[in-house]
Amino acid sequence: MIEKMAEWRRTCYAGEVSTSQTGEKIGLMGWVQRRRDHGGLIFIDLRDREGLVQLVFNPETDSAVHEKAHNLRSEFVIAVKGVVQKRPEGTVNPDLKTGEVEVAVTEIIVLNDSAPLPFMIEDDTDVAEMTRLKYRYLDLRRAPLQRKLMLRHKVAMATRNYLTRNGFLEIETPVLTKSTPEGARDYLVPSRLNPGAFYALPQSPQLFKQILMISGFDRYFQIVKCFRDEDLRADRQPEFTQIDAEMSFVDREDVISVMEGLVVEIFKESGVVLAPPFARLTYAEAVGRFGVDNPDTRFALELVDLTALLSGSGFKVFADAASKKGVIKAICVKGGATFSRKDLDDLTEIAVSFGAKGLAWVKVTEEGWQSPIAKFLSDAEKEGTAKALGAVTGDLILFAADKPSVANTVLGRLRTNIGGRLDLIPKDRLNFVWVTDFPSFDYDDAEKRYVAVHHPFTAPMDEDLAYLDTDPLKVRAKAYDLVLNGSEIGGGSIRIHRSDVQAKVFEKLGIAKEEAEERFGFLLEALKYGTPPHGGIAFGLDRIMAIMTGSESIRDCIAFPKTQKATDVMSDAPSPVDQKQLDEIFIRVAKKA
Ligand code: AMO
Ligand code: AMP
Repeated sequence: MIEKMAEWRRTCYAGEVSTSQTGEKIGLMGWVQRRRDHGGLIFIDLRDREGLVQLVFNPETDSAVHEKAHNLRSEFVIAVKGVVQKRPEGTVNPDLKTGEVEVAVTEIIVLNDSAPLPFMIEDDTDVAEMTRLKYRYLDLRRAPLQRKLMLRHKVAMATRNYLTRNGFLEIETPVLTKSTPEGARDYLVPSRLNPGAFYALPQSPQLFKQILMISGFDRYFQIVKCFRDEDLRADRQPEFTQIDAEMSFVDREDVISVMEGLVVEIFKESGVVLAPPFARLTYAEAVGRFGVDNPDTRFALELVDLTALLSGSGFKVFADAASKKGVIKAICVKGGATFSRKDLDDLTEIAVSFGAKGLAWVKVTEEGWQSPIAKFLSDAEKEGTAKALGAVTGDLILFAADKPSVANTVLGRLRTNIGGRLDLIPKDRLNFVWVTDFPSFDYDDAEKRYVAVHHPFTAPMDEDLAYLDTDPLKVRAKAYDLVLNGSEIGGGSIRIHRSDVQAKVFEKLGIAKEEAEERFGFLLEALKYGTPPHGGIAFGLDRIMAIMTGSESIRDCIAFPKTQKATDVMSDAPSPVDQKQLDEIFIRVAKKA
């Protein structure tokens, strides 16, 4: 076979054969997509990564070659030699890139056959995702997945080119490392040489990239795998890829403007021309108007604050919320008065799942307000509400009265749900927005302590430093996220570059001195030796690709993704290991509870 391969040179890809080659003798290699036997003529669609081309086998030209074509089946791997010819009038296929030509085959060799397939290799498929993941190598033969991964390669190259042009150095950081807190659980790796000790797989290269700044590399980037053991969703994988970057001697605006340039280059690869600067919202604006810190600004349905108007209301739920420092907010769904009882029950269920105690609603009808709460509100309150929301006959108003975090989240989630339900979201838009001025801390009611909203290395705003001691929740961070169509595609911050401020932030986070020393001692120590002011960002490459390619899930843009249960059903990972292997690393597996 090896000697034979030398005689079978491929001269171009099947998907690239064109009329300009008419009359030329070419060599092709690839997979049999389809065989159509017309009694006399046999047609084979030959496929490779660039597409399909039609091969013709004519019994009158060469009966032996024609006979071989008889025996071809789907996904056999073949090599052919043949002559490019224009398709006869009336047989041109305008849907195919190579639809004007075909290749009259003069020689053929079967390089390999194929067992019958568990599913057909087709662009559109309704095969269950689990089956496709088990046979991922076959799934990946499908043109849409091939195109996505090819585009991903181009995006990676554009990233490397742009960042290199802008003085960034690609430097690798360790995978066997120490825990970096990004808010998820760590994947741990036991150390054979250090019994009882564990590495953590990096949730991000955060600490190392900061240390590279301390080392004087000035500008760093890396296209890098990160590992987070968290509950998975369509846009979350346990291992995912970041475009990670860090810069010295910069402030927020420097990072944002360089990174907008990167995003422009990335989207150019998909034929989209973006025009920065991108829109901006502060965290307070984003949450106030859209209920969430990753707003989808492609549609309105904004939240309106009615606290002042309704705090004295006869509806006890509203008055109570207002008296407890809560808020009364609402959204107005245009045309929503047609929602059925069941629609409203669905929405209430969503509201409750995000912490609401109920979901007051109003249908604005010709006869006035149709609502369980109408009787509690005065005419002035009703009028004021309608005016503030721009509500007219036919609309639906949904209220949330609660502490601000709950009311915003609930209405924000309802907004997204209704946006989808009523098809309010223009699919062809790309709405970028930087969300800035995040709070530094959030209070975790369950754990009764402050937690970092971004990560503990994010610098507080200079003008808020004084609140560190008096009112930590008031401290805003020099942090920014880039949101695209409601998805957080990147996040970063200016870092703390002074060890005293860093120690203080750890203290606020309830990380004791000894613990800080043990977990991040190396960083605290490094910060003492001439640390330049620095900051950076990381983009979620899988998420960017998913949005760019209109994929439902980031799994479609990853060659070998994991399932929702963090398993790889193709290789069957994770899986049990030998006792011997466990003994070597001093691990004993506890019986499952
Ligand atoms: P952050 O945690 O915001 O920041 O992560 C950066 C970006 O990575 C993407 N992302 C994910 N994508 C897929 N699956 C996941 N499980 C997942 N988690 C995050 C998101 C996110 O915006 N070290 C900081 C960056 C910095 O401060 O410079 C960091 O990791 O698109
Ligand atoms: P009730 O008087 O408790 O039956 O409530 C009247 C309406 O107010 C119902 O539609 C409830 O779902 C709704 N409701 C209850 N609590 C809240 C709340 N915190 N915010 C908004 N609506 C609520």
